[in-house]
Amino acid sequence: MPLTAYDLGGRTAFVTGAASGIGRACAVLLAEAGAAVHCADLDARGLSATRELIAEAGGTAYTHRLDVTDRFEVAAAVRRAAEAAGAGGGRLDVLAAVAGIMHSATALETRDEDLERVFAVNFKGVLYACQEAARAMIAAGAPGSIVTMASGAVDAARPGLLCYSAAKAAVVQLTRTLATELGPYSIRVNAVAPGWVRTPMTDRHDAALQQRTEETMARLSPLRRVGEPEDVAHTVLHLASDASAFTTGQIIRPNGGATMPW
Ligand code: NAI
Repeated sequence: MPLTAYDLGGRTAFVTGAASGIGRACAVLLAEAGAAVHCADLDARGLSATRELIAEAGGTAYTHRLDVTDRFEVAAAVRRAAEAAGAGGGRLDVLAAVAGIMHSATALETRDEDLERVFAVNFKGVLYACQEAARAMIAAGAPGSIVTMASGAVDAARPGLLCYSAAKAAVVQLTRTLATELGPYSIRVNAVAPGWVRTPMTDRHDAALQQRTEETMARLSPLRRVGEPEDVAHTVLHLASDASAFTTGQIIRPNGGATMPW
């Protein structure tokens, strides 16, 4: 098991979107830090691959195939995770609500069904996971950390990103509101707003187009590169751990210092 500055030994984490990209990187890193990680996603095959990666790293993983837009599925899985955590009512220490979908359409072309789907996954899906995790944390009477996944898209307007950026802006407001409501229970709630990160979501399925897009995105960053899922996972690990014990209600931006977010 690699050494890490962050010790999550004995803790239990629940990660949505854990079958791919940023969610998978978060699940693996939290497990490497010692947490037992409950990986949730729609994609059963991707979940198995994540579980294998965690096992290879010597960590502990459980998988839950679920749709984050179904509050009953989410509630049941979070309860199972907390119960599995141990004797006497169980416990959940960390939630990383990462699952999300991209959608591109101009404001004038945005259809009701797009609006509903994007808000269902990117906002309601985060809300349901936060509600259930917070209930489990409050019931256990122990401190907890909730990390939501926003996006650099909340900091700028770009053509074609109305639904996506509006749903992510709602996640930011959810995060700040929850931080005020859950602080008295010693539950911290923070959002991560990454810049452009190389994952299946940003795969252009065309090598030349991918290269041009990444070069454009890299030029926006003083570090002159796009992000990798692990860059974001390290921010999530910091927020999940006691190293950020006095940090709540914040939006942290792993974006290579980009001043003009994608
Ligand atoms: P990804 O497409 O690789 O992973 C998203 C995961 O969410 C997939 O495993 C997918 O199966 C899962 N998912 C989607 N809908 C679901 C549902 N209804 N129920 C359960 N699971 C569901 O994407 P990526 O890039 O890893 O994105 C993760 C999060 O990071 C998303 O919320 C995304 O909006 C956000 N983000 C990504 C950025 C990027 O550049 N890749 C930048 C900023 C934010």
